[in-house]
Amino acid sequence: RIVYVNGRYVPYADAQVHVEDRGFQFADSVYEVCEIRAGRIVDEARHLGRLDRSLEELRMPAPMAESGLRVVISEVLRRNRVREGTVYIQVSRGAARRDFLFPHEATPPSLVVIARGIDPSKSAKAAQSGIKVITTPETRWDRVDIKTTGLLPNVLAKMAATEHGAKEAWFVDRDGFITEGGSSNAWIITADDRLVTRPAEHGILRGITRTTLLDLAAEEGLAVEERPFTPDEVKAAREAFVTSATNILMPVVQIDGHRIGDGRPGPQVTRLRARFHDIAA
Ligand code: PDD
Repeated sequence: RIVYVNGRYVPYADAQVHVEDRGFQFADSVYEVCEIRAGRIVDEARHLGRLDRSLEELRMPAPMAESGLRVVISEVLRRNRVREGTVYIQVSRGAARRDFLFPHEATPPSLVVIARGIDPSKSAKAAQSGIKVITTPETRWDRVDIKTTGLLPNVLAKMAATEHGAKEAWFVDRDGFITEGGSSNAWIITADDRLVTRPAEHGILRGITRTTLLDLAAEEGLAVEERPFTPDEVKAAREAFVTSATNILMPVVQIDGHRIGDGRPGPQVTRLRARFHDIAA
């Protein structure tokens, strides 16, 4: 297995970044996870666009031009013969003697690209039974629209979910509304057949899968409401699901131990999941 680290393709076991890398010390780093399907990156332009935005928001220099990054990613996929799976891209502000202030501008940013083959039948199988979610108080900062590796609240929330026999944790803000999952966006389908998901201006990451699903919904003329919703609305919903690059659409069949609908993946989410790649770029 081969990984790209700062200009070199190295065996997985030898892939290292410096002990004073700012990603390690300050979570001063941003990342992307993209789905690989039939050897291609799904929604590549959107992922690279979001990476660019994350960098800009944090005034972090780009490690290379977008065209170069595309070459590195496809080379990592090629060298690992990954046709189905994910690619992980991480950029940090580089390695420098520990200091809160940004390092000297000549400090090169770190870039790591890791590909992983995943059997897509695993996710398909999980989608047949659906997943359970728990709710947990929102404890993250208010710039979760930037995809940084500062993911400790997400780690703890998803650990708590696992300890409760669930797969995902949905954060609930101070006003009692769900923001999103620890590593996914949250959706419901109401009894009157409306797709509801929180607006992307505040409190959530603007998921690429979310955006592409909104395109699909528009193409199909489905009713969509971008508004916050509560755990009680989830319990009363016909269907619920999460979106992420790793699981596309994944049905949610329980929240905090309450069954959603009849407790099985609903027809609409199952259908949208099957249609998703017809529209994803
Ligand atoms: N997570 N919200 C959060 C907090 C996320 O971490 C993610 C993705 C999403 C969904 O975004 P997208 O559809 O672009 O994957 C929403 C990735 C998969 C991860 O951290 O592994």
